[in-house]
Amino acid sequence: MNIKIEKLIKPHLLKMKVYEPVDPPEVLAKKAGIKKEQIIKLNGNENPYGGSKKAIQALENTPLHIYPDPLQRKIRTSLSQYTNLPTENIIAGAGSDELIDLIFRLFISYGDNIIDFDPTFAMYGFCARIAGASIIKVPRDSNFEIDIEGLQKNITDKTKIIFVSSPNNPTGNICTKDQVLSLLNTGKLIVIDEAYYEFSGYSVAELVNKHENLVILRTMSKWAGLAGLRIGYALANPILINHLIDIKSPYNVNIAAEVALLASLEDSENLMKNVQLIINERNRMFTMLKKLKNIKPYPSYGNYILCELAEGKAKLVMNQLAENGVFLRYFNNERLKNFFRIAIGTPYQTDIVISYINKFLNKL
Ligand SMILES: Cc1ncc(COP(=O)(O)O)c(C=O)c1O
Repeated sequence: MNIKIEKLIKPHLLKMKVYEPVDPPEVLAKKAGIKKEQIIKLNGNENPYGGSKKAIQALENTPLHIYPDPLQRKIRTSLSQYTNLPTENIIAGAGSDELIDLIFRLFISYGDNIIDFDPTFAMYGFCARIAGASIIKVPRDSNFEIDIEGLQKNITDKTKIIFVSSPNNPTGNICTKDQVLSLLNTGKLIVIDEAYYEFSGYSVAELVNKHENLVILRTMSKWAGLAGLRIGYALANPILINHLIDIKSPYNVNIAAEVALLASLEDSENLMKNVQLIINERNRMFTMLKKLKNIKPYPSYGNYILCELAEGKAKLVMNQLAENGVFLRYFNNERLKNFFRIAIGTPYQTDIVISYINKFLNKL
């Protein structure tokens, strides 16, 4: 029997516009024709100082043959101390990416819509496409601030979730508490993605027990350097948290991620020293970029800086850097076609990236 398997796949998933992830170091090194150790990877907003030494030590003694705790008791207790919120307000996921996906499963039916503020993190739109929901993109203004009036004009009965990344990836600006309060007044589910919270020091987490329609997303990927282990968490009111727990896969957070999170939170003082180094470096890089001609850096509260170049230059400069083993992030987005995003690395990496940008920018 000759089965055409695609006839059985959900029609809306047959022609997926996929998420464009970043390649791992060995693939990038091969592209540049250099050794893995030589590349400068500034395309994933990763932590250049890696994870906590305590986390790495803890992983060595982790028993791998036992399933992790489905109710994440130790994780939630430890995060409760870190966030100053009760354990009932907390759920962990395999990266905050998994939590975004779970939120879609809980709230979105085929044909619903979600709203985000363009440009922003591509994962919201990606999950919407998988769910068969449409994405309404309300454009950010010229400083990339969110447009609440524009939002209000676009809300319909089918709108279920409004997503805001704060600091916004890739533009770097935050959504203020007043803006969040106006969003909450829409009565829709408001997801404030604080993946870069530790670099901004700005949070609206204290609102979760006053507003049932608020979810805060956080991650251990950035400040704690655990991107490879995939662990993030959500803060929300206990009713919503319990529904998310009910639908998650039972052992969603693996044992290595659990152990690393616990050790990292015990070592948070040291990790925050690395965060401070990254913030210092962000400020230094911003000042250096400002001095260059033909490139405009945008102020950032994250561990990255978005830069605007003259028409047609961004991709060319980025490609030249890639040929020299320095990888930045370019976006397949009309509004950002003349931009790239640089993750903040070590001082040594900053010096190299700036000198290459300077060299190529003025040659092209
Ligand atoms: C705004 C934002 N949210 C979430 C994530 C994903 O984080 P995680 O590694 O926890 O899945 C990222 C990663 O780049 C991000 O930029």
